[in-house]
Amino acid sequence: MKVLAVLYKGLEAARQEPRLLGTVENQLGISSWLKSLGHEFIVTDDKEGPNSVFQKNLKDAEVVITTPFHPGYLTRDLIEQAKNLKLCVTAGVGSDHIDLDAAVDHKIQVLEVTGSNVTSVAEHAVMSILALVRNFVPAHEMIERGDWNVSEVARNAFDLENKVVGTLGAGRIGYRILQRLKPFGCKELLYYDYNPLPAEANKDLGARRVEDLKEFVSQLDVLTVNAPLHPGTKGLINRDLLQHFKTGAWIVNTARGAICDKDAIAEALKTGKINGYSGDVWNVQPAPKDHIWRTMKNPLGGGNGMVPHYSGTTLDAQKRYADGTRQILQNHFEGKPQDPANVIVGTGKYETKSYGQR
Ligand code: NAI
Repeated sequence: MKVLAVLYKGLEAARQEPRLLGTVENQLGISSWLKSLGHEFIVTDDKEGPNSVFQKNLKDAEVVITTPFHPGYLTRDLIEQAKNLKLCVTAGVGSDHIDLDAAVDHKIQVLEVTGSNVTSVAEHAVMSILALVRNFVPAHEMIERGDWNVSEVARNAFDLENKVVGTLGAGRIGYRILQRLKPFGCKELLYYDYNPLPAEANKDLGARRVEDLKEFVSQLDVLTVNAPLHPGTKGLINRDLLQHFKTGAWIVNTARGAICDKDAIAEALKTGKINGYSGDVWNVQPAPKDHIWRTMKNPLGGGNGMVPHYSGTTLDAQKRYADGTRQILQNHFEGKPQDPANVIVGTGKYETKSYGQR
């Protein structure tokens, strides 16, 4: 069987650190296992254009492994050319780089390693919220520059205590963020999601659900975005919605870059409509050198907490999604049922309730 994987190049770091499993060099730790079973395993980072290793090998691959970190974009057109394709595995969480409707139409299954990095992302989101609210990055940069001017950074530093924080999407990550924020004594924890939190899960949390999106954002000091990217969330945070935010609110988006309108965010930050924007996900990855989110700032020269897409790829997370990928493959080879939580698209239908109300 031909198995094709698109991973990112880890270079020197991956040679020095074998736990960087999600790299071309370390091949999710499954290379010798796959070969011992007689399968052909092609691993590449070369993914763009018809002559790329990815697109050339896709034509007769039966299984494709991709990650959200260096996404091998599986468009409808490519899916239609992939005549043998039966299974797409996302080594991680978030399969928006695959045309899921096309996978449904062509009876190609799409599986994720659900839950593999949700705590990793939740921790990053909480860190980013604190870093923005407390104005950490400009304060650190001042120190590196050799300067010392307390009021210059304190003028835009606040406590998280008594702020209203809300998550757009209260699934595995959104819920974990709210759980972790509980001890900070926020004024209120809110959420917006068409799937309500189970009563049991919300018992200790006491998060309030708001059903209207504009009403939701208008109450927030901090928004954290934790919904998958699908037609119902693409560009959801745009110029129109930003007008409904409190002036000076902070946004942390570790879900998907394209949920936010790139230019509308940069403009809102520049004018001070929002005080900060942070996250690790971009509308194109790798982000171009001149992507405005790399350098955008608020009127005081801070408010930017952007990093490359790595919140869900800590070494702990890499072990979990590499092991999970192996388990999914093993089930596929042996004809065993898959863990239902991992199935985004089953044979010919959506199995998840997270990619819009279908
Ligand atoms: P999940 O499936 O457990 O939860 C997603 C929640 O979003 C669901 O409750 C769903 O109902 C809700 N939702 C969907 N559309 C919505 C909408 N229009 N409005 C409000 N809520 C909506 O997924 P999980 O594990 O919490 O992950 C969420 C997303 O986070 C992933 O799909 C992925 O895009 C992103 N992610 C990012 C990572 C990173 O490294 N930055 C790593 C892992 C996930």
